[in-house]
Amino acid sequence: MSASEITEASIHPASCLSVKPRIYVVMGAPGVGKGTQARRLSETFGLPQISTGDILRAMAKEDTALGMELRLILSTGELVSDEVLARVIEERTSKPDCANGYILDGFPRTLYQAQLLENIAKDQGKEIQVLKLIVPRSSLLKRLTGRRSCPTCGEIYNIYLKPPKREGLCDLDGTPLVHRSDDRPETVSIRVANYEKLTKPLTDYYLESGRLVKIQAEKPVEEVFQELCAILTQAS
Ligand code: AP5
Repeated sequence: MSASEITEASIHPASCLSVKPRIYVVMGAPGVGKGTQARRLSETFGLPQISTGDILRAMAKEDTALGMELRLILSTGELVSDEVLARVIEERTSKPDCANGYILDGFPRTLYQAQLLENIAKDQGKEIQVLKLIVPRSSLLKRLTGRRSCPTCGEIYNIYLKPPKREGLCDLDGTPLVHRSDDRPETVSIRVANYEKLTKPLTDYYLESGRLVKIQAEKPVEEVFQELCAILTQAS
């Protein structure tokens, strides 16, 4: 089957069950399209999408000391501590829905986290496959400042690139869309700088062990998705 023939309907989740379970790491700069693609891959391949950003944003709403601390960190664009991430990822990936593999969106982001993931993969008997999305830096700002998302179903829009049919409302459930507080231009620069300094070096780490595929993602969402589908299908 060619990549162009792959549709969500043509891939049955059961087709993933016969292979060694995989952990797919969708990696790339802030705004590159990790969440957009991870969500579609999750629906298509029947694997859970684990977005550390979404989990941390939900935790930040809690009225606890940790919730307050997270609200502050997320609003500045700095990274949350490896210690908190270790707890989050160990707990989430040990749930039964992860048994046949899962899709990580936003994790790992530091060398410490990459090493933690090696241990988790070993313990769980899974292989790691990294899918690195690449777009020119100049596109990231437009993607991030224009992003709007649905707090109910998680659908992602962009006022410049993928506007909802009715302004400010989700196409799927009509919920008013929200603008993330860390998508302000000044916070975006901090997030991009942290990515360059702490996360980009992981590219070499995964390239050296032959587990990283680069995908040029400066093209329509559907085309990027088809390329990713082809990679996941070959792997199974
Ligand atoms: P997180 O939520 O992970 O943010 P991020 O990595 O900065 O990535 P984004 O969610 O902003 O972008 P994306 O790549 O998912 O793009 P999207 O698909 O939405 O993390 C937030 C914060 O949490 C971090 O700053 C940190 O504080 C903390 N955190 C999270 N994980 C952590 C960790 N492991 N360790 C420590 N701290 C952690 O798309 C963006 C826009 O582009 C959308 O509007 C979309 O419609 C549009 N778009 C997507 N694809 C295309 C396309 N092909 N063409 C045109 N437009 C497109």
